[in-house]
Amino acid sequence: MIIDWYPGHMKTAREQIIKALPSIDLFIEVLDARLPQSSANPLLEKLRGNKPCIKVLNKKDLADPEVTREWVSFFDSLQGVKAIPLEAKDRRDVGPLPKLCRKLAPNRGGKGQRPLRVMIVGIPNVGKSTLINTLAGKKIARVGDKPAITTCPQQIDLRNGILLSDTPGLLWPVLADKDGASRLAASGAIGDNAYDSPAIALTTADYLLERYPQFLLQRYKLTERPASPSHFLEELGRRRGCLVGGGEVDLTRAAELFLRELRSGKLGRISLERPGEVNPATEAPAEE
Ligand code: G4P
Repeated sequence: MIIDWYPGHMKTAREQIIKALPSIDLFIEVLDARLPQSSANPLLEKLRGNKPCIKVLNKKDLADPEVTREWVSFFDSLQGVKAIPLEAKDRRDVGPLPKLCRKLAPNRGGKGQRPLRVMIVGIPNVGKSTLINTLAGKKIARVGDKPAITTCPQQIDLRNGILLSDTPGLLWPVLADKDGASRLAASGAIGDNAYDSPAIALTTADYLLERYPQFLLQRYKLTERPASPSHFLEELGRRRGCLVGGGEVDLTRAAELFLRELRSGKLGRISLERPGEVNPATEAPAEE
């Protein structure tokens, strides 16, 4: 169903993190609040050792607040971890982060101490760059965006005793777990060409019919709960004019519309997984 795989990228990520490790005091791992487990890469937990880690549950504006609270309790029970839900563009949300960093690494960043070195890590599209820009108070050009000739390692001095690593540590989603991969695709973290929209829409609709049926009824003005995910997608297609010649529903268009509306929050604040309900993130398969 999902055709992309990242073993080469995973190897690069591992090498980059290992290289940076000695100089890093603390990690900020950016996760998608709607799917904190599936948007995490277990490589970080494996490599960070006992260095503290702040798990940022980003895009909290799109996630179910009650489920996000469950995730915060879940992560806070882990050794050396503190979780914080936020919206990376919102300065009020991001404001407390530096203080939290200092609390978790108390011997760094204070008067007479060496700066606290922080690396922001996460899979693509979870909001790392947005968070860095908000922390820095300006738009930071990503090293990857510049011509190769001008790139050199730099750090972003937040002028509060904290140095951010210049580029976000790019991890890659682990697609080994079929259900987790499907949730990642539903969230928009995986490129459109890498999955089959109707299949992802059906799996997601199945979960939403179970967990958030009222959102689907309201958004698509359905009078009764559809008997199955395929009935739902058919009905949505008919109501939104996703039709092909002969009046049949174009399932691909209906699926794309549904996923677009889910991702933009039009259906409501929805979480795609809860603690205890999903398999623990699995290690990536062997690298070549
Ligand atoms: P990355 O560096 O981890 O790859 O992620 P990036 O900051 O580029 O953010 C990916 C997308 O997520 C962007 O949307 C960004 O605006 C959005 N985003 C980041 N934080 C939040 C948040 O807290 N809430 C919501 N709702 N969205 C967030 P985009 O459409 O790809 O780009 P843009 O047009 O918004 O710039």
